[in-house]
Amino acid sequence: MPESASVRSMPAPPTLISEDEIRARVASLAAEIDAAYAGKDQLVLIGVLKGSFIFLADLARRLTIPHRVEFIAVSSYGDRESEHADSVRLLMDVRHAIDSEHVLLVEDIVDTGHTLAYLKRLLGARSPASLRTCTLLHKPDRTEQVVDLDFLGFTIPDVWVVGYGLDYAERYRTLPYIGELPPEMR
Ligand code: PRP
Repeated sequence: MPESASVRSMPAPPTLISEDEIRARVASLAAEIDAAYAGKDQLVLIGVLKGSFIFLADLARRLTIPHRVEFIAVSSYGDRESEHADSVRLLMDVRHAIDSEHVLLVEDIVDTGHTLAYLKRLLGARSPASLRTCTLLHKPDRTEQVVDLDFLGFTIPDVWVVGYGLDYAERYRTLPYIGELPPEMR
């Protein structure tokens, strides 16, 4: 094997949710969303960067209803033990106004719930026609802030997940499945 290839290759984390399972669930979520917004104009999908970019791309291409796509980027302060544990910072806003539009926030994972709670407050103050959430993964054992999850792909245990948009230190994001990263691979 050439050295460059060996440097690039990483051990593959064990599968938690396979490509086939993801594909099937994304298709059924898209059908749920199609039905929920049937007859409504002005649906805007807002993907939360970076983690949602693959899920959003697959979900949006499955929708048959008219929609447009926006992105927003946030970051948490990172110190979950500090008094600012629930603080989320806006890094990049959506490009166009969302007033009078039906907004669907698209997340890869809801963990503590702080990110989605922050985004619902931020975007809810902009007079959208409606504001709902769609997340591929939810870890209920980690909930600190309860947020309504209107469309949910999978409920998962409290394990470190990577792939399909989710990273560990920016690695594994483009794995085609959701893997469970064991401690020895971190
Ligand atoms: C992840 C994920 C959510 C957030 C959920 O983003 O994409 O946005 O954490 O966590 P919470 O429910 O505890 O707030 P991350 O901060 O890892 O950034 P990334 O999407 O850019 O990887």
